[in-house]
Amino acid sequence: MTSILILNGPNLNLLGTRQPEVYGAATLEDVERMCHDAAKTLGMTVECAQSNHEGILIDQIHAAKSSHAGIVLNAGAYTHTSIALMDAIASVELPMIEVHLSNIHRRETFRHKSFLAQVALGQICGFGAFGYVLALQALAKHLTTS
Ligand code: DQA
Repeated sequence: MTSILILNGPNLNLLGTRQPEVYGAATLEDVERMCHDAAKTLGMTVECAQSNHEGILIDQIHAAKSSHAGIVLNAGAYTHTSIALMDAIASVELPMIEVHLSNIHRRETFRHKSFLAQVALGQICGFGAFGYVLALQALAKHLTTS
């Protein structure tokens, strides 16, 4: 069965309590449960991981090459700073969808730049936790039509 890596970056372990007015009330556990449920209806499976450390995220992207057909990535603030994460995605050549709970384009200017966007299949932002479900739907469509 097609397996997708759901990878969350720094501070996303604090979802639910971290600025709920910006990121919503859902916890990371809620988000991961939604992903498992959505994957099931799409005939896929997901593995969920989160790290606050850039190098660990890079290792997880490298490891995904041999075990997953695609990646849903919310890299948190590393989105706006990390050429290393961008290179990791480019290196593994897996389809990746970039997700943000908040609409980064309506926020501070420094959040408008994403190094990941240029190696992403697409970007989904502003729909809260539902964005992960949308990303899984988009990946399922991509993987069955490409
Ligand atoms: C975020 C947006 C980033 O700018 C921020 O640093 C995060 C979360 C989001 O999901 O909206 O940590 O990726």
